[in-house]
Amino acid sequence: MSLITEIPSVVELVKQAKAAFAECFPGNEATIVACAPGRVNLIGEHTDYNEGFVFPMALPQVTVMAGCRNEDASSIVVQTMATAADKPTCVNFHSPTADTPLTPGKPLWANYVKGVVQCFKIAPVPGFKAVLLSSVPIGGGVSSSASLEVAVYTFLEVLTGSSAPDLNSKALSCQEAEHKFPGMPCGIMDQFISVMGKEGHALLIDCRSMESTLIPLTDINVAVLITNSNVRHELTGSEYPERRQSCFKAAEIMKKKSLREATLQDLTAFEAEMDKTTFWRARHVIGEIKRTLDAANALKIGNYQLFGKLMVESHNSLRDDYEVSCQELDELVEYALECPGVYGSRMTGGGFGGCAVTLLDASKVEETVLHIKSKYSGTATFYVAQPSSGAQVLK
Ligand code: ADP
Ligand code: GAL
Repeated sequence: MSLITEIPSVVELVKQAKAAFAECFPGNEATIVACAPGRVNLIGEHTDYNEGFVFPMALPQVTVMAGCRNEDASSIVVQTMATAADKPTCVNFHSPTADTPLTPGKPLWANYVKGVVQCFKIAPVPGFKAVLLSSVPIGGGVSSSASLEVAVYTFLEVLTGSSAPDLNSKALSCQEAEHKFPGMPCGIMDQFISVMGKEGHALLIDCRSMESTLIPLTDINVAVLITNSNVRHELTGSEYPERRQSCFKAAEIMKKKSLREATLQDLTAFEAEMDKTTFWRARHVIGEIKRTLDAANALKIGNYQLFGKLMVESHNSLRDDYEVSCQELDELVEYALECPGVYGSRMTGGGFGGCAVTLLDASKVEETVLHIKSKYSGTATFYVAQPSSGAQVLK
């Protein structure tokens, strides 16, 4: 039996979501179906909120929202099929109006849905019923939350018959929802790639100009392996905003609008005016922004050796300067790098658990997985991911 977890096709998942909908809401049929993918970030970590570059790709794993209009025009009922979600898994709330806006509360998972409904500015949202079904690992650092937000937004576009004026504003509304409802001050990477991903491509996003460039990743001799550590340390919630603050402080000390504007020379010149931690955080971000551009250029010319080297430098910098790795992720990266045919490996996402991403020779995947599995102190899950499509409406 293969050690690589099979990813269900979107068609299969949609079939299951429609069946779940018919079971939860007898007598109703899911006439609107939308989905949006999770993502893996190849390189460019903790750079998005510093106006830097990120380089993610959309995953074949998606969140599906399937449903229909409600006869009760102001009542919204949503059922998640995710066993990892907090209880109750079915929520009922009203369509927001100017006088009665939605507010965050419990269960926590519903905040992602309510947030998007509240931040959907292009048309009033009528009552609807829907189920959510996802193949994105939840809480695994590959953006199940952004895929949920973007799936909800895409569903609402069909429900209301109104489309976002452009893809950037769609992603930004989903980011606003995440800031205001779950209360996570995330950057723009996850929502952008979930909206704009394209099959066979990674996406270089300039988080200052918000322009993005598709870069092909279709070489059949190269594979992207995602290894879920299956751990998540509880630090994530408090550490992320703290990292952001350190970055903003470093930029302020250097009198720059953001760390995107700063060079390593600037940082050295201001070293004496910063505490050590602030200096380390800024050193990671400034170095990572350059590495991301270099990596995108390396991929363009098929220089996987260089891409891999930059991935390893990124991991070391996240571990030592940014201090967002953990023992489990360090292990996964170390064991991957011991294998022949591996170009590079690094932690991906916010950190403190979640996944590692490895770029390797496609013929070496099974061997590498066996090796990591035999040495890893925990129980890992392995996926081989092709760069996939962004949000879609399904017939
Ligand atoms: P990640 O986005 O890396 O998977 P987060 O902690 O940012 O991790 O988001 C995970 C949270 O998003 C879950 O705890 C849950 O509240 C919510 N979530 C994600 N997917 C679903 C889903 N299919 N159904 C309900 N809630 C979900
Ligand atoms: C994610 C966050 C992104 C990005 C990333 C680190 O969890 O949602 O916006 O900052 O961490 O690169």
